[in-house]
Amino acid sequence: MLQINLKGKKAFIAGIGDDQGYGWAIAKALAEAGAEIIVGTWTPIMKIFLMSLNAGKFDASRKLSDGSLMNFAKIYPLDASFDTPDDIPEDIRENKRYKEVEGYTIAEVAEAIAKDFGKIDIFVHSLANAPEVKKPLLETSRKGYLAAISSSTYSFVSLLAHLGPHMKEKSAALSLTYLASEKIIPGYGGGMSSAKAALESDTRTLAWEAGRKWGIRINTISAGTLGSRAAKAIGFIEKMIEYSEINSPLAKNLQAAEVGNVAAFLLSDLASAVTGTILYVDNGMHAMGVAVDSPSLQESK
Ligand SMILES: NC(=O)c1ccc[n+]([C@@H]2O[C@H](COP(=O)([O-])OP(=O)(O)OC[C@H]3O[C@@H](n4cnc5c(N)ncnc54)[C@H](O)[C@@H]3O)[C@@H](O)[C@H]2O)c1
Repeated sequence: MLQINLKGKKAFIAGIGDDQGYGWAIAKALAEAGAEIIVGTWTPIMKIFLMSLNAGKFDASRKLSDGSLMNFAKIYPLDASFDTPDDIPEDIRENKRYKEVEGYTIAEVAEAIAKDFGKIDIFVHSLANAPEVKKPLLETSRKGYLAAISSSTYSFVSLLAHLGPHMKEKSAALSLTYLASEKIIPGYGGGMSSAKAALESDTRTLAWEAGRKWGIRINTISAGTLGSRAAKAIGFIEKMIEYSEINSPLAKNLQAAEVGNVAAFLLSDLASAVTGTILYVDNGMHAMGVAVDSPSLQESK
């Protein structure tokens, strides 16, 4: 029987802060396939995430099909906006949610993973951030735009550059992108559409560079809409979910687990010849040219 088997593989997933997002769903699918899960959680929410985890708040969603609970081998605080401690501005360093935490820059986390786990097999980037996401592009400041690209896109480049030397040959990396990179999605602002376009372009360039340098495969999943914490910050996610359900070829609610399953495939040896691709996991939404629920398309009475 053809199976996704990740037994003995070590997977680092950057961007888990609760059990609602794609990072969690991917972790779960990888754990179902037997992988060991290592997590990077955004520094300012690390405390609350650990408190909720330890209080059993996520136990229901940690449950795997054999009845056991998904375990995290280690959870590192990570702020993927910073490559080295020298990059951290004073106000962040002194911020109460950062002050007592150490070692959260990309270089430090990559080094700690190598020290704690040796070589890893899988790297997943499931994080994005844009301080001005609610502003249209025309109203986005230079600072806001660059912040979106820095934490949502360059973070992937930098994490890969630092983790690459500590990844086994034939290992795989994955990021998550969104349709707004290539089609107009009004409201997905603050430079996030630009950040996703850059992420997709980088997927191709990095597939070449990391493929030749380390034998690593690089892919991205263009995921459909999900009511995660990050998506709720944009403000109109519930409407987008409803729109997708009504207008997609597969008129159903998209489950995070459906993205998790495809991620497990892409990160397994079954996808050993797949690199530099954007794989749509969105009920087919990307292929639509019209909104079928548009009043213009309704038959006149
Ligand atoms: N939710 C959707 O509709 C949707 C659709 C397509 C793609 N995506 C992408 O999926 C990925 C995961 O997002 P999600 O929607 O599951 O939300 P999420 O809130 O579960 O995940 C985003 C994570 O990024 C973390 N983060 C933000 N800034 C960070 C930083 N500087 N350093 C480290 N971590 C940081 C947040 O703490 C959070 O845990 C993102 O790349 C997002 O753009 C989401």
